[in-house]
Amino acid sequence: MKQTLARLVDSALDRSVVLGYTAVGSDVRRRLPTWPADPAPGSMTGRRVVVTGATSGIGEAMARSFLDLGATVHLLGRNADKVAAYARELRQAVPNADVVEEVCDVSDLDAVRAWCTDLVGRVDALHGLVHNAGVMPPERTESPQGHELSLACHVLGPHLMTSLLRDLLVAGPASVVWMSSGGMYGASLHAQDADDVEYRRGEYDGVQAYARTKRMQVVMADAWAEQLRGTGVLVESMHPGWATTPGVTASLPRFDRLTRRVKRTAADGADTAVWLVATRPPSQPGHFWHDRRQRPTTFGWQRGEDPALRARLLAYVAGATGAASLA
Ligand SMILES: NC(=O)c1ccc[n+]([C@@H]2O[C@H](COP(=O)([O-])OP(=O)(O)OC[C@H]3O[C@@H](n4cnc5c(N)ncnc54)[C@H](OP(=O)(O)O)[C@@H]3O)[C@@H](O)[C@H]2O)c1
Repeated sequence: MKQTLARLVDSALDRSVVLGYTAVGSDVRRRLPTWPADPAPGSMTGRRVVVTGATSGIGEAMARSFLDLGATVHLLGRNADKVAAYARELRQAVPNADVVEEVCDVSDLDAVRAWCTDLVGRVDALHGLVHNAGVMPPERTESPQGHELSLACHVLGPHLMTSLLRDLLVAGPASVVWMSSGGMYGASLHAQDADDVEYRRGEYDGVQAYARTKRMQVVMADAWAEQLRGTGVLVESMHPGWATTPGVTASLPRFDRLTRRVKRTAADGADTAVWLVATRPPSQPGHFWHDRRQRPTTFGWQRGEDPALRARLLAYVAGATGAASLA
C-alpha cells in the first residue's frame, strides 16, 4: 500500500512537470519508500567511465560522483584548458582520484573517429559511457562536416562514438546513458523533421532544434538498447530535471531567472546517470529515466513514435556518420 501510494506521488510529480523537475521532485522522491538504494560506497572501484561534456554543470557533478564511488573517470571536453583545470581540481579534492583527461569535440565526426581510435589503443574495457555534452546554439551553426550543431553534438557524434567503442563497451560490459531533456516531450518525431533533419528549412529556432535532437537521443538510445541486447551492454536515456548549471544560465537566461529558487543542483541532475551506470537496473523498451525511475517517452495525448519516421531517422544518422545502421 505504501509503495503504491509512493508510486502515485512520484507519478503525480512527474505529470505536474514544475514540481517534478525542480528540487521539490528530487527532495520528495528521495523520502519515498520507492526510492532505490544508493550505489554502495566503492562500488565502482576498478570500473572505467567516460563522461562527455565534463567541464561544466551536470557533467562536472557526475564526474565527481563517479570518482567518489571509486571509478576511473575519463573527463571528456572540447577545451583542453578546461579539462586540465577540472582534472587538477578533482585530484586535489578526491584522495587517489584516477582521472584521465580527454579532449574531443563530439560534434566533429573526424575528431570523434580519431579520439575513439586512440582510446581503443589505450584501454581494454569501458563500464560506463555518458553522452552528456550539450549545446543550444542561438542561430543555425554547422559542425566541421556541415551538420547542424545540436544534431551533430547530441546525435551524430554520440552515435559514432557508441559505434566505434562497441568492443570496449561489450568488454565491460558497460552502461551507456544518453542525457536527454524533459524538453523532448514537446517534440515528437514529425514527418517534416524527418525530411529536414538538418533544420535547413524555415526560420531556425534554437530551442526547437534542441528539443528535436533531445527527442532523437531518446530514439537513438532505445534503438541502441535493442541493437546491443544480449551483449551485456545496457543503453538508457534520461532527463535530469531542471538543474542550475552555467549552460542554463547562458542559453536560457529568462528561464534561469524565473526558476532560480526552485532548480535542483547539478549533482541532483546527474544522479540518475550515476545510479544507472553503478547499479545497472533492468529496463523496458523506451529506456527513458528520470529520478531513478523509468518514465514514458510520450504522454497520453501524444502518439507513440511512428516506426517509419524512426527508421528514416536511423537511416539518416547511419548515412551521415558512416557508422552502424540501427534501422
Ligand atoms: N541543466 C538542465 O537543467 C538540463 C535540463 C535538461 C537537459 N540537460 C542536459 O544535460 C546536459 C548537460 O547540461 P548542462 O546544463 O550541464 O550544460 P553546460 O553547463 O552547458 O555543460 C555542457 C557541457 O557540454 C560540453 N560540450 C558542449 N559541446 C561540446 C562538444 N561539441 N564536445 C564536447 N563537449 C561539449 C560543454 O563544454 P564547454 O565547457 O567547453 O562549453 C560543457 O562541458 C546537456 O546534454 C543538456 O542538454 C540539462
